[in-house]
Amino acid sequence: MDLHRLYPLLNSLADGRFRSGETLGRELGISRTAVWKRLRAMESLGLEIQAVSGKGYRLSRPLELLQRKQILAHLDSSSCSMLTDLEILPEVDSTNRYLMERSQGGIACFAEFQSAGRGRRGRRWHSPFGSNIYLSVSWHFEHSTGTVSGLSLAVGIWIADALRQAGVEEIQLKWPNDILHRGRKLAGVLTELKGETEGPCLAVVGVGLNLEMSGRGIESIDQPWIDLHTIIGQRPPRNRIAGLLLHHLLKGLAKYRETGLAPLRERWNHLDCMAGQPVRLLFPSGSVTGTALGIDENGALLLRTIEGTRAFHSGEVSLRQLP
Ligand code: BTN
Repeated sequence: MDLHRLYPLLNSLADGRFRSGETLGRELGISRTAVWKRLRAMESLGLEIQAVSGKGYRLSRPLELLQRKQILAHLDSSSCSMLTDLEILPEVDSTNRYLMERSQGGIACFAEFQSAGRGRRGRRWHSPFGSNIYLSVSWHFEHSTGTVSGLSLAVGIWIADALRQAGVEEIQLKWPNDILHRGRKLAGVLTELKGETEGPCLAVVGVGLNLEMSGRGIESIDQPWIDLHTIIGQRPPRNRIAGLLLHHLLKGLAKYRETGLAPLRERWNHLDCMAGQPVRLLFPSGSVTGTALGIDENGALLLRTIEGTRAFHSGEVSLRQLP
């Protein structure tokens, strides 16, 4: 079903209160059968609906749908001036894929639902409707390689800045792209590039931030995770977090275009959850163990190994802490 057609019903039920099928049908000008079909469609997006005889239907958790005006309220004149377009899609396969195809810089795209959210190393990103944040921002760079290799690391810092402004402390970063709270993954970054190897390119920075995890498939997430609701003990203000995140990303990207990663290196190392720890770096073809020493000015991970200090670039690698 076209998600735009579901919005009136979603809005009616967003407050989490019971409404009878008859009331909903009357409010929306549709039959009770049509109400029922739409409720089934909402369930297929991962939304949990309670039906109680004599009371009607309600969402088991209230919804705060993304609103353009409320998100833009958190940008200042300089971050706003960097934005060519802001899109809020009810549904998309992947916001990263969508912006890679639009091929233009300065566009921000949020989605309420991703049917094929992309994670790093070919993984899927669990993207139920209306609960988390799925955001991509496209950015044009004059020079690709060097400048862009550290971008995902810089994005981690800007996410930590946005979360701090929202009152969330104890955020740490895990090379190359994880944002953690007390060792559990709260957000991830996927940066994709299009363009020439040494020349101008378009970078699409994708951020998935767990606000309130729900829906089928949650049990198949194969790493320890956490959501903001659990951290702050109440429902996170979704539009505020979305706005702060976008503001810090745009501000950061504008500066990054001028200065690259180098001035951010110290801050990244300060937030590094693996600093000084024994770790194993896994590649498709083997592994290396050593002590994590943070990142160098290009964003490579420094490891003290038996062969001396070595720098590793991200790609098809993952990092594990050793006991
Ligand atoms: C990871 O940690 O594996 C990276 C996850 C990145 C997920 C975000 S959600 C918004 C954007 N669109 C996608 O398809 N992926 C990124």
